[in-house]
Amino acid sequence: MRPILIAGNWKMHKTQAEARQFLREFAPALQASSVGATPQRQIILCVPFTDLAVVVEETRGSGIAVGAQNLHWEDQGAFTGEISGPMLTELGVRYVIVGHSERRQYFGETDETVNWRLAAAQRHKLTPILCVGESLQQREQGLTESWIVGQLDRALPGIDLQNLVIAYEPIWAIGTGKTCAAAEANRVIGLIRQHLGADHLPILYGGSVKASNIDELMAQPQIDGVLVGGASLDPQEFARIVNFQTLTPAAAAP
Ligand code: PGA
Repeated sequence: MRPILIAGNWKMHKTQAEARQFLREFAPALQASSVGATPQRQIILCVPFTDLAVVVEETRGSGIAVGAQNLHWEDQGAFTGEISGPMLTELGVRYVIVGHSERRQYFGETDETVNWRLAAAQRHKLTPILCVGESLQQREQGLTESWIVGQLDRALPGIDLQNLVIAYEPIWAIGTGKTCAAAEANRVIGLIRQHLGADHLPILYGGSVKASNIDELMAQPQIDGVLVGGASLDPQEFARIVNFQTLTPAAAAP
């Protein structure tokens, strides 16, 4: 059975003081039933570099894992402003987002450097969360499937599928409030799984996930979890996302 991963991506939000405040409100709002659920619900907080040490410290023993939002492919060197794998593992970080569309769009990251970053993460026993997804224009031109398959094929040479998470994040759904319909997210994730031939690989959906749509998304058989941006900033809302309700066909029937 694949694990369920509920990951928050704070992006460039929250000082250390704000991170502490979030955790004070978030932890008590988690239901014991969702923390101890089967399959296990792994909570991951992907926070800014400056918050990592504090969030690792404050979540110790809670079962919440901590992730970074990027890493450089070299272990050290003259790369001003960059952070390496050993710097993250020393802090107790376990996950790292790689290839988020904002990194690709605003900071010039390419599939080639995404591949190098994935390899660096795995070399240091971090689990990378690789983001892929199409733009609105690509979707309208019917290029969704071929684009995503191309992104995967360029990003994954030499990468171990045993220590990897993929997040399908349609760019047009990120931060826009326009969630991809649950059935469509399920379809694309199914295609990714089929293409990679890796049944055990957790594949998440990301893009305007909120408390109001989490139950429907998590009812889809191919969706193993979510990567949540804006709605992960609010402790009550993110706790409701973690505490998603399992919809059964019986419960959904009139
Ligand atoms: P959003 O962001 O939930 O704010 O749409 C998702 C993401 O970028 O990972």
